[in-house]
Amino acid sequence: MLKDKTIILGVSGGIAAYKSAALVSRLKDLGADVWVVMTKEAARLVAPLTFRTLSGNPVLTDLFSEDAARTPVPHIALADRADLLIIAPGTANIIGKIAHGIADDALTTLVMATQARKVIAPAMNCNMWRNPLVGENVAKLKGAGWEFIGPEEGKLACGDYDIGRMTEPEEILARITGWLGGQQDLKGKKFLITAGGTREAIDPVRYISNRSSGKMGYALAEAALRRGAEVTLISGPTHLKPPSGAKHVPVETAREMHEAVMEHKGEQFAIIMAAAVADYRPTVTYWQKVKKSEDILDLSLTRTADILAALGQQKNGSRLVGFAAETNDHIENAHEKLNKKNLDMIVVNDIAAFESDISEIKIINRAGRVEALAPQTKNELADKILDRLLGL
Ligand code: CTP
Repeated sequence: MLKDKTIILGVSGGIAAYKSAALVSRLKDLGADVWVVMTKEAARLVAPLTFRTLSGNPVLTDLFSEDAARTPVPHIALADRADLLIIAPGTANIIGKIAHGIADDALTTLVMATQARKVIAPAMNCNMWRNPLVGENVAKLKGAGWEFIGPEEGKLACGDYDIGRMTEPEEILARITGWLGGQQDLKGKKFLITAGGTREAIDPVRYISNRSSGKMGYALAEAALRRGAEVTLISGPTHLKPPSGAKHVPVETAREMHEAVMEHKGEQFAIIMAAAVADYRPTVTYWQKVKKSEDILDLSLTRTADILAALGQQKNGSRLVGFAAETNDHIENAHEKLNKKNLDMIVVNDIAAFESDISEIKIINRAGRVEALAPQTKNELADKILDRLLGL
């Protein structure tokens, strides 16, 4: 998506600098040529070698160092070539310096020299962010065409919950990919995606659930949004933040997920059931906490409705994608599910992928063709699943 794009990432000295390493890695995943420029303070927080390794390019910290002299692309040429310059994290200090036209280190000099689109993701203490001088500097930068991402509310380095946190790398990435164009091949298409595991209550404090983290479903939602789709994300409880731009419908039980899917299933281009829906729920849910008594407690379970099978029975033109999490006989079991549930495609993974960022999957289409994909991140897999879905 970001092939042929040159991005300069300026890292200034905020504790969120470590998160920028993830941003570099994701920008590289999408094909961008990433050049990192760090302030001296940032280089005390995260070693330049981290960024050098992740970006595959030398890291500029000092324009007068021998390293800088050996850099294959001189800083002015880099400033000229960049499509986008993003400073993340952006401290009060760097904002102040830029606002006042100071260019006394590698980063501020590049900022001064570049004509590229300029973006900043501030991160600082809440009182610093509210300081009127910072406010004035921010207004000045906005007036000069800088775009701001964040800051967000949340837990700050000082321990307070307030405004000042740097926006998460995935969200910054979504904004960057949105700006730098990229593939908008899902524009005008609606996607209904389910994610996460469901929880089936035994009593007010206990429930039955599974190890699904929701990562695959969220990655799919994010990728579809980035490619221009309109996304409804129906999700069981997870620790993940729903991607901005998605219509998020939080649910807890299989029954709630069933109702939500039925409510939103109309006119979808595709329905992707990445959720690990409970197959059984306790037959009785106690309204008071169950007290321990006998040595053995039998729990009676009742089948839940199979949402995907119901969708397969009343197919209305939407492409239907199922997931199969297996421990054994992966292909055989998945084939059976594909046919039984009347699906267009099924994604098979091993339960080892649960909770992990990486997965190894096989995709089986209606014709029974099996495609094995090498282990890779769920973000990368999400794009490939969407590609295959489009190609059906
Ligand atoms: N699924 C669903 N409703 C359920 C259970 C599962 O819609 N009550 C969907 C899942 O979201 C997934 C697919 O069906 O896309 C396969 O789920 P899985 O649990 O692996 O298979 P099952 O069909 O439930 O079969 P089994 O548990 O026997 O492996």
